[in-house]
Amino acid sequence: MMMKSAMCAVVVVALLLLAEVGPMAEAVTCTPTELSPCLPAITSGAKPSNACCTKLKQQKPCLCGYLKNASLKQYVNSPNARKTVASCGIPFPTC
Ligand SMILES: *[C@@H]1O[C@H](CO)[C@@H](O)[C@H](O)[C@H]1NC(C)=O
Repeated sequence: MMMKSAMCAVVVVALLLLAEVGPMAEAVTCTPTELSPCLPAITSGAKPSNACCTKLKQQKPCLCGYLKNASLKQYVNSPNARKTVASCGIPFPTC
């Protein structure tokens, strides 16, 4: 009996979490190549273009995921990339 109600609680929580994440995870696809307009800014430290900032804002929910990816982290976590993100008025994610 105890076990069964515990299982029910777990299922309910899982469903609540799914419902929570669903609408919040908007139609943003985490594609690092989308950030290619930012490459000049990230490689040179120059001021990012509007195209870059637009993409960066779209990809903002993805930044943490990129930071967890060793092959992307070196770019996303570089001082210039941080500068680029800041220039676009985006707070750098704390993951
Ligand atoms: C890291 O990013 C690269 C480039 O987008 C991708 O090919 C690779 O699958 C990613 N690795 C992980 C662990 O997500």
